[in-house]
Amino acid sequence: MLPDGVVTLADHEDRVNTVLSPQTLAYFNGGAADEITLRDNMRAWQRIPLRPRVLRSVAGGHTRVSLLGRSLAHPILVAPMAYQRLAHPHAEQATALAAAVLGAGMVLSTQATTLLEDVAQLVLTEPSRGPLWFQLYMLPDRAFVRKLIQRVETAGYEALVLTVDAPVQGARERERRTGYRRPPELAAVNLAGRVAPRPRELQAGQSRLFDDLMTHAPSWEDVTWLRSITHLPVILKGITHPLDAQQAVACGAVGVIVSNHGGRTLDTMPATAHLLPAVLQAVGSEVPVLVDGGIRRGTDVLKAMALGASAVLVGRPVLHGLANAGATGVAHVLRLLRDELEIAMALCGCRSLDEAATLGIVDSTWPTRAHTL
Ligand code: FNR
Repeated sequence: MLPDGVVTLADHEDRVNTVLSPQTLAYFNGGAADEITLRDNMRAWQRIPLRPRVLRSVAGGHTRVSLLGRSLAHPILVAPMAYQRLAHPHAEQATALAAAVLGAGMVLSTQATTLLEDVAQLVLTEPSRGPLWFQLYMLPDRAFVRKLIQRVETAGYEALVLTVDAPVQGARERERRTGYRRPPELAAVNLAGRVAPRPRELQAGQSRLFDDLMTHAPSWEDVTWLRSITHLPVILKGITHPLDAQQAVACGAVGVIVSNHGGRTLDTMPATAHLLPAVLQAVGSEVPVLVDGGIRRGTDVLKAMALGASAVLVGRPVLHGLANAGATGVAHVLRLLRDELEIAMALCGCRSLDEAATLGIVDSTWPTRAHTL
């Protein structure tokens, strides 16, 4: 059941404070270090002014977009998020089902707490569903990765989202402060059987990070390798630099997701709203560029699309909806965003999201100017 008085994504977030423990809240809501990027992500969307166009007919308007050869009811996808069973016992199945019914795309995390086959089986036959993608962390055990991808392909996933911005965890101090520890019974079930590398013996003066952990970190060669072992399209998530965006395309990625991991990895990175225009410019209009981080309102979705994004992903609000009311809560969050998007489009005189990028409702030089102020 949806709690009374919850009518925005912010209400869902307020409400979740009464549902989850301080430790789980720290894991879900926290960011890296001083959480500057975490806050900036949200503020940046809020502060882009909308410049509505008036007296335009929007009768027959719609939120449809096309993405990687598919027509979608709207451009909102659920971002990959680990360990959703912490939020609700129905976990990723509830999220995926709600997303499918609401026509939203779903990206399942490598660290999901539900078998990837079970999620796919639940939603693949849902006629209104959006795309079903699998997010991959490149693990040191490449033989395991190969088998995992075979499972992903067999289960019917339609693309791989390789996350490239988190070779190590950020300094998540909110978690440390509250003493967050992942409950031992909570497992990344799709990773059962993988061989984790043994910690290396270090020589005097060597660093655990550089001489051990980072020796297993993925590289551009792995992107090429990944493409060679799968027929699925590969999208890189965590691209923020225009030169990396170009390299991603040169390595065969079919799209990129501008993301700073929701401010959870490297603090003081710019907000994604500020990073998006340069990436779009670097790859050109033929390559889909998606964006996530801080999207909390339909107006934020409209701004991203008006700047030229192909779609947006939503993270934490989905977890809040899940914790508050399972699949119903996730559906509510997605419905609110979609309704707000429609209202914002109507008030800006946009009949479609393709049109939104051509009407001048967002000053595309704004992020750059704001950034240099
Ligand atoms: C994440 N994110 C993430 N990303 C990814 O590629 N793989 C993952 O397993 C996870 N896990 C994860 C857990 C939690 C609790 C959060 C909050 C986030 C990052 C996620 O996909 C997305 O980039 C951000 O959450 C987007 O920012 P917002 O919408 O949360 O502000």
